[in-house]
Amino acid sequence: MIKRIGILTGGGDCCGLNQTIRGAVYRAKDFNYEIFGIRDGWKGLLEGLISPITLTDVEELVDKAGTYLGSSRTNPYKIKGGIKNVLRTIKNYGLDAIIAAGGEDTLGVANQLYKEEKINIVGAPKTMDNDLNGTDYTFGFDSSVTRAVEALRSLEDTGRSHHRVMVLEVMGRHAGWVALFTGIAGGADWILIPEYETDIDEMCKQLQRVYVRKRYALVVTSEGVILPGTSGEKEELDQFGHMILKERGVGNQLKKVICEKTGLEVRHSVIGHMQRGGIPTVFDRILGLRSGVTAVNLIHEGKYGYMAALKGNEVIGVPLEEAVSKLKLVDKKWWKLAEVFFK
Ligand code: F6P
Repeated sequence: MIKRIGILTGGGDCCGLNQTIRGAVYRAKDFNYEIFGIRDGWKGLLEGLISPITLTDVEELVDKAGTYLGSSRTNPYKIKGGIKNVLRTIKNYGLDAIIAAGGEDTLGVANQLYKEEKINIVGAPKTMDNDLNGTDYTFGFDSSVTRAVEALRSLEDTGRSHHRVMVLEVMGRHAGWVALFTGIAGGADWILIPEYETDIDEMCKQLQRVYVRKRYALVVTSEGVILPGTSGEKEELDQFGHMILKERGVGNQLKKVICEKTGLEVRHSVIGHMQRGGIPTVFDRILGLRSGVTAVNLIHEGKYGYMAALKGNEVIGVPLEEAVSKLKLVDKKWWKLAEVFFK
């Protein structure tokens, strides 16, 4: 019988996480489950950073970005004795089930713990990158794109005044969803995403054509793009083996290439972590709340090894295995739609 649930948030923070915690705490009271907050992702289970969460703790999280529980990119499978410590903490605190809110890395660990250690675990899929398989959209994506579109429109104001090409580099890791949606919704004249290689000459010709018409142009690039003729240099890796792409500076490389090839004046901006904060959009707030509620429902139904996924208009249980089997990348259909606006 379930008495006590632990909840953690792992990986990069994003909008909707606080609302997920809030949703879970509110739903848990319907079943008289106690909810314990696990601090800083899997680190909290390694180190026993755990304490009860009450309604008072979460009721004002309705419109707050970030995560009240803290987060980290700690991978217990990469730490000597890590899994032993995780299991010990679960036992010591009497956690009957765990909700892990996270992206591919956090849910990958959750899935492994479920399969190999038989832990009662369910997931709440989050990531501003929207690259998680098995769910139509992840919370965090809508707010981060909203932030990036605002930034692009600001760049338009200054680009128009100074007759410049303005390049905006956005996050998104190896999936181009954030750049794609920012570019389409914000009126970019060219979009670069990791999934489809850009023809630099074709891009420069298009920017020159656009420039003749309006005397400025807007370019959006995803941080994960590797420009033809350059290599993705080796960077420091986190515990899940991911490079810190922002440091590679594709926006800056692109600025130089466009300037050289077109002779136009070019500036670039990197929105970076600003995309992860701010006020969560209504879409992310509602999806976060629904994910938290559904995660507790899944526990109540004994559907361990599942996550609360958005399918159409419903939030339903989908096996964690589906989420971690592959990355959800931008498909041809979406790319063709984007090209309508810049080719
Ligand atoms: O996965 C979310 C994300 O924001 C990516 O878009 C970005 O590459 C990465 O996290 C940045 O990670 P960190 O906050 O560890 O620098």
